[in-house]
Amino acid sequence: MVIEPIIKGVVARSAHPYGCEASIQNQIQFAKNASQIKNGPKRVLILGASSGFGLAARIALTFGGSQADTIGVSFERGPSDKGVGTAGWYNNIFFKQEAEKEGRTAVNIIGDAFSQDTRDQVIEAIETYFEGEVDLIIYSLASGMRPNPNTGEAWVSSIKPIGDSVTGATITLENDEWVETQIESATQQEIESTIKVMGGSDWESWVDTLINAESIAEGCKTIAFSYIGSEATFPIYRDGTLGWAKVDLHQASHSLNLKLANFNGSAHATVCKALVTKASVFIPTFTPYIIALYKAMKEDGTHEGCIEQMQRLFSDKLYNHEPIPVDSERLIRMDDWEMKPSVQQRVAELMAQMNASNFKEVGDYQGYKQEFMQLNGFNITNVDYQQDIDIEQLSTLQP
Ligand code: NAI
Repeated sequence: MVIEPIIKGVVARSAHPYGCEASIQNQIQFAKNASQIKNGPKRVLILGASSGFGLAARIALTFGGSQADTIGVSFERGPSDKGVGTAGWYNNIFFKQEAEKEGRTAVNIIGDAFSQDTRDQVIEAIETYFEGEVDLIIYSLASGMRPNPNTGEAWVSSIKPIGDSVTGATITLENDEWVETQIESATQQEIESTIKVMGGSDWESWVDTLINAESIAEGCKTIAFSYIGSEATFPIYRDGTLGWAKVDLHQASHSLNLKLANFNGSAHATVCKALVTKASVFIPTFTPYIIALYKAMKEDGTHEGCIEQMQRLFSDKLYNHEPIPVDSERLIRMDDWEMKPSVQQRVAELMAQMNASNFKEVGDYQGYKQEFMQLNGFNITNVDYQQDIDIEQLSTLQP
């Protein structure tokens, strides 16, 4: 069969396996040719390893100078009678193939990172493949829900403002439509649930589990990803439910930093740049900002994708630099170029002009959509999209 892109709203309902393979290879090529990571970690656990920042971190650490072995946890679906499977499923398969070609160990654990069963599998894999210890733990989960470990009931996150409602435009990727939206303030319960899902408590519980299992190596670091943004996005992000969850994550980084000090290690929340990922397209009223930002940063020559961000994080900030460069709140700022005053001023100018009829010209909507398609293995150069794909044969490939 020939696999076509199918988008519903902002969700991709199909993925192209060989496009995903080519995308992995392109990212590997970037990491190999970039400024290399020096004195990097050798045994890395990545929670949320199959797409976005987690996948890019895995590629950077394996191929960008550190030659790390990795254990990656993700929640992905393989081919079945319901469909071809998710992009992350194929990313796991093809990443592992490429890593093994270079003699690296790459273990994929597919399961719910919030469950005890997945924790047990990870500890066993650390014993089997890493001689019992990890040097770096990357927490890169983006999920809409998390089961309460005590009751089994789900906490569900809500992406909403707190206090005043927010009005703005959401752009649907399915039909490239600008839709004016109003989002009401979150309730107290929605705020609390979002903090449980996207805040720091699961990160902390993972590190506690690994400390208790004696899986932490001397000098072990941990990082989790955050976002702050600018005035244009404060109402929906920093001052809303997601922003409150991120403050909780920043607080968890401080308590984890104290715990890992016992191992001469550290914990940092790392503030990344706004980028198109499977998760970020869900943030309502955020797209006008991202397409203005893409345009401004491309004009400025400083636009980065996930792989560029992660390679720079490990080569310029987290490794080989003592002390690790942080801001006054002990955050690592990978959004430094996004926040440059000249970039933000250009973003404000573009956003002031942008409307339903001109957003494709004023902002970089084409670049945004292109990156979204590429996340799912489409629109990648040198991939034959007319080829007949044998799903049965694909089913024999295991992550
Ligand atoms: P993504 O959707 O591309 O990746 C999320 C990963 O989590 C995937 O590997 C997925 O399989 C995994 N996952 C989700 N639920 C899981 C579960 N229950 N069990 C196991 N694995 C699960 O997301 P993205 O954007 O890379 O997000 C990662 C982190 O980066 C998030 O904390 C996000 O807030 C943060 N971030 C994202 C920015 C953006 O613009 N995309 C900017 C700054 C921070």
